[in-house]
Amino acid sequence: MIHASVADYRDAARRRLPEFAFRYLEGGAEDEVTMRRNRAAFSGITFAPRVMVDVTNVSTRTTLGGRPAAWPAVVGPTGLNGIYWWRAEETLAQAAHAAGLPFALSTASTSLMEDVRGATDGDLWLQLYVQRNRAIAEDMMARAKACGFSTLLLTVDTPVTGQRDHYARTGFTLPLKWTPRLLCDIAIYPRWTAEVGIRGVPQLVNLAESARLEGGIEEQAAAMNRQMETALQWRDVAWLRRHWPGKIFIKGIQTASDARIAFAHEVDGVVLSNHGGRQLDGAPSAIEILAEVAALAPAHAHVIVDGGVRRGSDIAKAVALGAEGVLLGRAPLYGLAAAGFEGASDVLSMLRRELEICMSLVGCTDIEALDAGYLARGEWTDSRAPIIRETES
Ligand SMILES: Cc1cc2nc3c(=O)[nH]c(=O)nc-3n(C[C@H](O)[C@H](O)[C@H](O)COP(=O)(O)O)c2cc1C
Repeated sequence: MIHASVADYRDAARRRLPEFAFRYLEGGAEDEVTMRRNRAAFSGITFAPRVMVDVTNVSTRTTLGGRPAAWPAVVGPTGLNGIYWWRAEETLAQAAHAAGLPFALSTASTSLMEDVRGATDGDLWLQLYVQRNRAIAEDMMARAKACGFSTLLLTVDTPVTGQRDHYARTGFTLPLKWTPRLLCDIAIYPRWTAEVGIRGVPQLVNLAESARLEGGIEEQAAAMNRQMETALQWRDVAWLRRHWPGKIFIKGIQTASDARIAFAHEVDGVVLSNHGGRQLDGAPSAIEILAEVAALAPAHAHVIVDGGVRRGSDIAKAVALGAEGVLLGRAPLYGLAAAGFEGASDVLSMLRRELEICMSLVGCTDIEALDAGYLARGEWTDSRAPIIRETES
């Protein structure tokens, strides 16, 4: 099977995964307008290529969150990865580090952070969902500190879970229930069942460890849903600071005015994000607010952007608009779900190669010099509804 692009890995993931797992990976909130917009926003940006430039050597090397990175991307936090691959987070972290990138572990991970640390000595970030019982987050931060994680991503776009219609359509529930419908679903995916299903339901072990929960995924997910802190506010950044000595990024900023507030609270960085279109349908795309945020960010602040990055040229566009780098959500997951470490690694290699090709073709030899001067003014609309490939129902 030839995989020429991230889209090909998406198709391969779809073939290997039961419907409930693929939809969990792929699906957005409500009518998926924001999810499609994330792709459309990239398509609307046009380069202003410079020709007759010596592009014999092109450098993508940069710094991300204050540390060196081979190219401007971080493998982002995604929950429940164990439904795609056995030891999914260890595998993703190893692929990220082999590619010279940091890896961000989700609060809702299916591997313990200690095991992920044991699997790699690369740069690790922790994504934090805060539960009403603050002692859980405090314990997570203490464990991450002991494991040498460098950076904390506080996710703030998820006080409640967005309305995801596909949960009802596929029979997926949190807590996960092996209903006859789900059992029929997995029965027609023998490869997945042999490789993943046979090991039991993946557990939210990271959360369970800090919450001292002993039940299975059902109890853990129910706890996570019911006990999410809905009263989190800006003043809580000071609480985080007391418990986290490293860098603090706020993930899920969706307006320039909120970015301004975040910087006023002296966070180290922001991740402009609408959670891959999985939360508020109707939210703006991060790339649309990027230039405004980059212009108001203090010089020392880190600005990362995510949502819909599927091509190296998307990364170039984000950097040109002022991002330090991008956060990758679904793209490496497609690779992981299709072919484990090899798949995730191949997706990352493709993105880097595409970024290098893009830089050569726009006539920019150093990623640090890629700025808005390499972009054309004005928007262009792709009449082909530029989602990666139309979502099949
Ligand atoms: C399957 C899946 C699970 C996710 N889980 C989390 C999570 O646990 N915490 C979080 O902050 N973001 C989570 N996200 C959002 C990603 O970190 C990221 O913001 C988003 O996927 C970027 O969009 P993209 O998938 O189009 O690249 C998840 C995304 C996906 C696709």
